[in-house]
Amino acid sequence: MIHRGDGASREKRAEGGAWGAVVRLGWLSDIHLNFLDPMGVLSFFSELDGHDVDAWLLCGDIGEADSVIPFLRGFEETLRAPTYFVLGNHDFYRGSLEQVRVDVAAWEARARQLVWLTRSPPQRIGRDVVVVGDDSWADGRLGNALGTPIELSDFFLIEELRDLPRRRLVQKLNELGDESAARLAPKLGEAAELSGDVVVLAHVPPFEGAAWHEDDISSSDWLPWFSCEAVGRVILECAGNHPETSFTVLCGHTHGSGTFEAAPNVSVLTARAEYGCPEVQRVLDFA
Ligand SMILES: [Fe+2]
Repeated sequence: MIHRGDGASREKRAEGGAWGAVVRLGWLSDIHLNFLDPMGVLSFFSELDGHDVDAWLLCGDIGEADSVIPFLRGFEETLRAPTYFVLGNHDFYRGSLEQVRVDVAAWEARARQLVWLTRSPPQRIGRDVVVVGDDSWADGRLGNALGTPIELSDFFLIEELRDLPRRRLVQKLNELGDESAARLAPKLGEAAELSGDVVVLAHVPPFEGAAWHEDDISSSDWLPWFSCEAVGRVILECAGNHPETSFTVLCGHTHGSGTFEAAPNVSVLTARAEYGCPEVQRVLDFA
């Protein structure tokens, strides 16, 4: 259950044990650090480290294929708190899904305090919060995938998606969504067995009602590229099987902020973002 912060410091919250009663998580998404110059990146990391949090949760779109690892290294080398992350579609731009995944996995295996949730089992933070996640992918299932005139840069800048005819493209997006849901489903169940408070990270909104774009829900022309129906389905299934567990889903991708109650025990928060102006979305306290 999310609670308002009580202003206690990390040291105070840690009194009496390795973790205090409140776990404070800083949420970031769509920071697109490649839009900043090197001084801007350093300044952003310095700002982050001024926050009193137990961990950072990062919902993807960190950089592009050639910069995502250097930026992740910045988190590793600059911040005191550990970072749990997923990747977004931009993190594969000017590269391939396969190669970026191989490279990030190899780097993350040696990292001291960064965890790529897509390749990791549920992670306990503090006594009572468990975090799981998956990159997810806009899977083209909701809205007007075959007829929309809107095209994303994904379809030109990511090797596996480049220049595919529309039907083949949608089929590939379906597959990427299904793969994500298949990775996430067992971890959701495991997390719900471990804790009554589960935080789920995904890059893409998993529900139509969470696909906020310019202060409204995405139209049917944007929705296929702004939602991952397959991931939403496994979240609802798990939440239905574990009504006593509270699921907080954090996502981004659309750059429009909003909240959506997908079920009595599933709250979805979508991040706002602006290129060149990375920001802390929220600091969430769990008690
Ligand atoms: Fe994105």
